[in-house]
Amino acid sequence: PTTRYYEWAVGEATGSPDDFQRTMLVVNNQFPGPLIEVNSGDELVVNVFNKMSNGTTIHWHGQIQNGTNYMDGTSGITQCPIPPGMNFTYRFTIDPNQYGTFWWHAHASTQYTDGIYGPFIIHSPNEPIIDQYDREAVIVLSDWYHDMSSGLLTQYLSNAGIDGSNYGGFNPGAEPVPDSGLINGLMTGSSFIFEPNLRYRLRLINAGSLTEFVFSVDDHVLDVVEADGTSLDAVSVHRVPINVAQRYSVILTTNQTSGSYNVRGEMQSVCYKLTNPNLNTMVLGTMTYGAEPSTNVTTQDWSDAFPQDCVDLNSTMIVPALPLAAPNSTQDVLVTMSFQQTVDSGGQQTRAFINNTSWQPDSSDATVLQMSLGGATTSFDSNQLVVVSDNIGVINLVLNNQDDASHPFHLHGHVFWIVGEGAGLYEPGVSIYTSSTNPPRRDTLSVPGYSWIAIRFSTDNPGLWAFHCHIGWHMAAGLLMQFASLPSEIQKFNIPSYVGEQCKSQSGGSLVG
Ligand code: C2O
Repeated sequence: PTTRYYEWAVGEATGSPDDFQRTMLVVNNQFPGPLIEVNSGDELVVNVFNKMSNGTTIHWHGQIQNGTNYMDGTSGITQCPIPPGMNFTYRFTIDPNQYGTFWWHAHASTQYTDGIYGPFIIHSPNEPIIDQYDREAVIVLSDWYHDMSSGLLTQYLSNAGIDGSNYGGFNPGAEPVPDSGLINGLMTGSSFIFEPNLRYRLRLINAGSLTEFVFSVDDHVLDVVEADGTSLDAVSVHRVPINVAQRYSVILTTNQTSGSYNVRGEMQSVCYKLTNPNLNTMVLGTMTYGAEPSTNVTTQDWSDAFPQDCVDLNSTMIVPALPLAAPNSTQDVLVTMSFQQTVDSGGQQTRAFINNTSWQPDSSDATVLQMSLGGATTSFDSNQLVVVSDNIGVINLVLNNQDDASHPFHLHGHVFWIVGEGAGLYEPGVSIYTSSTNPPRRDTLSVPGYSWIAIRFSTDNPGLWAFHCHIGWHMAAGLLMQFASLPSEIQKFNIPSYVGEQCKSQSGGSLVG
């Protein structure tokens, strides 16, 4: 293991990823942001200097953070935002048993929507798929807006709702509609030059804020071998659906005739395409064998890219390469998510709820810091749903989704087992295993509309861990709950003094960022 150092400046820049010029938020003037590349067990040090006018934090999506929960980078949960003009040094050890494809992003309000995200790759000789490819490439898919997210969020939360800033409609509670989609930060023109007769590992990351993508490459089969850092038994498909915050590795063999092929990110936009008729839902890049990309891509119209009967990935196809049975649970947590119109001093608002709570950043101090200082370990604001576990056990978490849309839920600090899913409301007593011996394991899963899912995880990682919908608008509307594991261990953390300093400097609490 070695120590990897990065120096980052987060600031504003002017850019036009889809030819529309706007102010965006970027790290080191790069978009997508810098690649973090480490080996399992390395120490990572990222010094983040905030050159923006709002507070920020950076979250390392999928990292276990055992013993360093205060480096998880969740604004209002594990730290106070880095104030404008100040810096914060993230320092933690990559779990020695973790490898694969991850990402990082701002975790303060909807800031990442404006561009603060990038890939995070962990290499390891122990990764089961290590011998299955010759080369690798990172492919970041994301939806994109023409307006700053802060303004869009205000409109979304206000009862007026919005259906895209330029389309004049009135649709209460509807999420802001993207203006385009991007592959590696470009709506068109991302190009990949691959040598013939090699196996390429494509590391797919959905870094968007609302939209599920379906990824494909014309005339090529994709062998799916990784989901969120878990190596899989290879499964061959033509199209890979990838929801917000999920990652897959697929292996593409360059075994076709030379030439250029479309690389496709198809935005799943059934719910909002009509409100943005200008939205081009097929985002295209180019893969070329061995030479500069030809401007003349000789492939089919996208609708013919694959015949209807070609295989799409689905969750039942995901079989971890290293089998690991889900343990029996010691505690059941049953929650229901919903959206409601509420009235407060600001007037009518759209808020999202898990049971009766709609999360907002902790109003006084980052709670984990209070806990570490010996403060009350179980007193949280009433707007927070926090499940406290004083002992190591196994939580069986059942989430009922009573909304009509699918939601990508992410649990911080853990790899969970997906032990069941079904249509409608969960009926207690139903045996929920889909596979008791080797269920899928990942850190972000899609919960289909009007359905329930059950996941299982061990409460052996001390800290405050967010569980939330990764749609940026929903998270900001409060669709987030927390698990507080082993409070007595949290109090033994050796938290560097500078972590707490930024909370003191913001007394009065501007934890929203
Ligand atoms: Cu990708 Cu709460 O995080």
